[in-house]
Amino acid sequence: MSFPAHRPRRLRSAPAMRRLARETWPVPSQLVLPMFVREGISEAVPISSMPGVMQHTLDSLKRAAADAAAAGVGGVMLFGVPAVRDAEGSGADDPNGILNVATRALIEEVGDALVVQTDLCLDEFTDHGHCGVLTASGAVDNDRTLERYAAMGLAQAEAGSHLLGLSGMMDGQVLAVRAALEGAGFTDTVIMAYSAKYAGAFYGPFREAVDSQLVGDRRTYQLDPANGREGVREALLDVEEGADIVMVKPALPYLDVLADVRAAVDVPVWAYQVSGEYAMVEAAAAQGWIDRRRAVLESITSIRRAGADAVLTYWAIEAAQWLREEL
Ligand code: PBG
Repeated sequence: MSFPAHRPRRLRSAPAMRRLARETWPVPSQLVLPMFVREGISEAVPISSMPGVMQHTLDSLKRAAADAAAAGVGGVMLFGVPAVRDAEGSGADDPNGILNVATRALIEEVGDALVVQTDLCLDEFTDHGHCGVLTASGAVDNDRTLERYAAMGLAQAEAGSHLLGLSGMMDGQVLAVRAALEGAGFTDTVIMAYSAKYAGAFYGPFREAVDSQLVGDRRTYQLDPANGREGVREALLDVEEGADIVMVKPALPYLDVLADVRAAVDVPVWAYQVSGEYAMVEAAAAQGWIDRRRAVLESITSIRRAGADAVLTYWAIEAAQWLREEL
């Protein structure tokens, strides 16, 4: 035989052909922008480890959310940075707590254009920085934390949040929050569970973003990066408990878990391209070592290809604009 029997290159021969042959097209509405709002500041504060990302004031938050809506982004995920913290994370379910105040403001500002989402976890609100309340000996108390999550979920639903992002990795958290919502008549509030959330190094810059007080680590509740099957098991349990959407986090180092979860469940699967993933590309791009735009779009496309229906990414607004141009 003097010629190749198969020539896959035919489908790559020209831009128009490549466009037609392309399997995965992320669109702006599949992107969710995580945002930080900080209590008691009069001007937005840049986060040094996440160039371009801010701790917002209420006003700058509203403006940035309007930009996201204009870019066609699908939603925003809100994180609160309170001025005062305590052992129980009281600011989390206080209707006047920063996250709940900001939620009401965004619902009013962009509630029709965007899915307004809230992080449901205690770590931003506790003075010890853990995702739950502690026992006398300092361990994270799973079941007492569930009561706090239920109260937090109700406060967020009352503030108008469309979607609660349960990121605390406590056992039974989806069931506890779902029961509280149903009991109070919040039957339309969506629960998105951070089901396969790994305890790794990639959340580093986020700790600066929320002024985290954490000493130690989260290894008694977040997953061991070595365990893929356990991630699938967590996702299946969350679906059983009533999660509407499940999430894998971080994204790029866990594409195998993402693909496995995608195959195991029939609810939407989301992925979170976390602060460390953002910082790596920004740092390399700032050195001129990597093409920023291509790296961002390639990573988002890969996360979609691996099975994510939507992607939380700090690049959401810029990526949405780029994706428009690519189309
Ligand atoms: C917990 C939470 C964290 C992130 C999102 N939700 C921090 C953690 O688990 O340590 C990290 C997001 C990121 O790194 O971009 N409330």
